[in-house]
Amino acid sequence: MSDAAPKKLLRVLSGETLDPPPVWLMRQAGRYLPEYRALRTEAPNFLSFCFTPDLAVEATLQPIRRYGFDAAILFCDILVIPHALGQKVWFEEGQGPKLEALQSPADLDRLSLENLHGALAPVYETLGRLSRALPGETALIGFAGAPWTVASYMIEGGSSRDFAKAKGWAYRDPESFSGLIDLLVEATAAYLIRQAEAGAEVLQIFDSWAGVWPEAALRRWCLEPAREIVRRVRAACPDCPVILFPRGAGLNYTDFARESGAQGLSLDTTLPLEWAAKTLQPHAALQGNLDPILLASGGAGVTDAVRNIRAKLGGGPMIFNLGHGIVPHTDPDEVARMLEAVRA
Ligand code: CP3
Repeated sequence: MSDAAPKKLLRVLSGETLDPPPVWLMRQAGRYLPEYRALRTEAPNFLSFCFTPDLAVEATLQPIRRYGFDAAILFCDILVIPHALGQKVWFEEGQGPKLEALQSPADLDRLSLENLHGALAPVYETLGRLSRALPGETALIGFAGAPWTVASYMIEGGSSRDFAKAKGWAYRDPESFSGLIDLLVEATAAYLIRQAEAGAEVLQIFDSWAGVWPEAALRRWCLEPAREIVRRVRAACPDCPVILFPRGAGLNYTDFARESGAQGLSLDTTLPLEWAAKTLQPHAALQGNLDPILLASGGAGVTDAVRNIRAKLGGGPMIFNLGHGIVPHTDPDEVARMLEAVRA
């Protein structure tokens, strides 16, 4: 290991305030980049793209070369976990993810932890290569989906508008639903610990659909599983900070800040920043929260919004990011202009 100065992202996650703040973007590797679209044609499908270390390493590095972000995020997907548990997962061009949906508690018996690390071995290989390839100042982020968000895809069989099947299952039969969540806690914690051992220096947990639950269910299906995963990860890897993204949790972000044990919280686009600085920042570094659609729209509004986020969150530990993933129609030059404002 080198004895170089700690990376900016790690400094902020241990509570330092840095100006300008470190910056990376959710989905920073992806279809808005022409070099990504070219690379993507080299794999027959998206999952094999994720599981081919040569391609996944290259996709991870592309946005680092182009923009010099302070962190690289592993190129992969949250749906590798259902795949590794034995569920059929595929991606249809232009349609997003598809899964052979779980329909009844009996279907849970077909899921197994047995080949988890075997199926995910290429991801660990990718992380090892990345930790050797990245510039000394760039932090490496590993990630996984949170149990609820992953369970929603497993039950809905893909993306959903109202999550009626997955929420309905949880309300009608909380016992078997909790069996699925517990299995995902187990798999996700083990996966994240292996990622840290393979070279990830920070871990982010994406609960993209936390915002669909009432308060008590949010606590049971999102906060408690996240807290358990953070507890296990920190016990195994005490130096690896965790960033949690309970997207849409609104005022309940307070409970995630106080109780999850995460070192960072990723703010969605809707959260009021003065409230977040006052209520959440004493407990965790805050990451966010430029509207990805504003970024794609471009113009002076982006610079104003960057200044506003820096002014409101910059008094404490902050990481500049979007409030959700970058959208494919974003002009790469807009990202460069945004970065000038973040680093000014
Ligand atoms: O951030 C990064 O650059 C790392 C890579 C990354 C991907 N997916 C690559 C990807 C990350 C961190 C994810 C996380 C992910 N995947 C989430 C949580 C974050 C969020 O956006 O809410 C979710 C819900 C998924 C599931 C998923 N994967 C969906 C719904 C889709 C289809 C939507 C789309 O953008 O096409 C994917 C496919 C996917 N994952 C793509 C990429 C680059 C596009 C597929 C392609 O390039 O062929």
